[in-house]
Amino acid sequence: MTTDFGTPIQDQYTLKAGKRGPSLLEDFMFRQKLQRFDHERVPERVVHARGTGAHGEFISYGNWSNITAASFLSAAGKKTPVFSRFSNVQGFRGSPDTVRDMHGFATKFYTDEGNFDLVGNTVPVFFITDAIQFPDLIHAVKPEPRNEIPQGGTAHDNAWDFMIQQPSAMHTLLWFMAGHGIPHTFRHVNGYGVHTFRFVTADGASKLVKFHWKSLQGVASKVWEEAQVAAGKNIDYMRQDLYNNIAAGRYPEWELGVQIMDESQMLAFGFDLLDPTKIVPEEYVQITWLGKMQLNANPMNYFAETEQISMHPGHVVRGIDFSEDPLLQGRLYSYHDTQINRHGGPNFEQIPINRPRVPIHNNNRDGFSQQYIPTNNAPYTPNTLDNDSPMQANQTVGNGFFTAPGRYAGGHLVRQPEFTDFYSQARLFWNSLVPVEQQFVVNSIVFENSKVTNPTVRKNVITAMNLVDNDLAVRVAQGLGLAAPEPNPKYYHSNTTCCVGAFGKPLQSV
Ligand code: HEM
Repeated sequence: MTTDFGTPIQDQYTLKAGKRGPSLLEDFMFRQKLQRFDHERVPERVVHARGTGAHGEFISYGNWSNITAASFLSAAGKKTPVFSRFSNVQGFRGSPDTVRDMHGFATKFYTDEGNFDLVGNTVPVFFITDAIQFPDLIHAVKPEPRNEIPQGGTAHDNAWDFMIQQPSAMHTLLWFMAGHGIPHTFRHVNGYGVHTFRFVTADGASKLVKFHWKSLQGVASKVWEEAQVAAGKNIDYMRQDLYNNIAAGRYPEWELGVQIMDESQMLAFGFDLLDPTKIVPEEYVQITWLGKMQLNANPMNYFAETEQISMHPGHVVRGIDFSEDPLLQGRLYSYHDTQINRHGGPNFEQIPINRPRVPIHNNNRDGFSQQYIPTNNAPYTPNTLDNDSPMQANQTVGNGFFTAPGRYAGGHLVRQPEFTDFYSQARLFWNSLVPVEQQFVVNSIVFENSKVTNPTVRKNVITAMNLVDNDLAVRVAQGLGLAAPEPNPKYYHSNTTCCVGAFGKPLQSV
């Protein structure tokens, strides 16, 4: 045992004035031990606080330089270390694993050209379309403010009131009410980048891409009663499953793929590829499988690794670019901002789990807990005085390494909704379910709304479900003992004008 500054000590008894005397301020070992303990807690993530993670490896299936300059995809068999963190969204850090929730699936690739974070979810669509709405979404689904009880009082009223008043939520809400809200384990989830991103080649050609992770364990969910029992018996059910399987050498695996679209196809499918409430049906664009990830080592220390890891959709590498999706654009600001709060300063990229596995060169200076010792003595650009100063990277293509040269932005300033149709893909999802899955969805909506105390909110839920499908609305109404609504044929057929697919077919028939 030593002090923090390395002196050997015995730290079991305080220094006192006499055997029964008061403890002395002079006892630096005592002060240090308590002081260090007093400061152990840091803010948990504002969302996705509950999580579990593991180290692993990604192996590229091929040389994908025809579609991206990303170096980790440049050769068959090329290996890249990764760390994945799976999370619940709404629950606090100590909340049970198996409650119904959205789930995060975030992976940091420590590539030989810097870190790439694929910060996705286990559902391919999202509740809102504009980042400015995110605080409202989260305030609506977090526990009731006056008592911090997630399952009681009017917390369900808030969540359902928001979901129904915000029509963009409907598609994601149905995924969430289906088995995807209560996955069997984290080994049994698929992952999705949700937004459209871009791949850029070394000569500046770009394609639109949607990221997919496919679980090679298969996808499975719990039934609600099973999830409740699991929550009661072992609140760590999911994290224990991942930890135990990796410890036993049963390493879970996922394939990484992309749906690849031409820049000209942004509006070709009857909806906007910038709209994060939409999937691109695989009937239109198949997935190209790029490589495989295996998670094969548990963290040595939960806090240092899983808790301190800082994923950020803005961590991209050469060959990967963003899209103008207004949700993604807001995320590019929010993660770094919140991480400064979580880590108490700007130097968190320097801690071991966040450090890129390549050397860092920049003109950053100081800040709380600087861990590097910068040697460049003229920390500014341009400078002619210091050979140690970082050189600007060679920007050979277009606007530089990250921004596809073909991207164009321009227009009058507006503050208005960007997307309008939120029911056609909700209906597509509902129609894609087999009868037993549809029954799960009905049961979940009925169960959740049985906790809603405000009769108007419940009535609004039925009205909104009726815009998706009359059978769904009738079954939910029956479950809640409310009047069944009449079908709304105008609505069900309106999607033939708004949603004609790439091959001229409507996305679904009614
Ligand atoms: C975590 C904001 C949408 C996936 C977070 C965190 C914030 C945040 C502040 C905590 C980060 C940290 O403390 O390290 C937002 C905002 C969004 C948004 C403002 C919309 C405007 C999304 C979407 C996805 C997503 C659409 C999925 C595609 C995640 C994941 C994490 C996370 C997986 C946890 C990362 C980890 O495991 O450390 N988000 N988010 N978020 N978000 Fe989002």
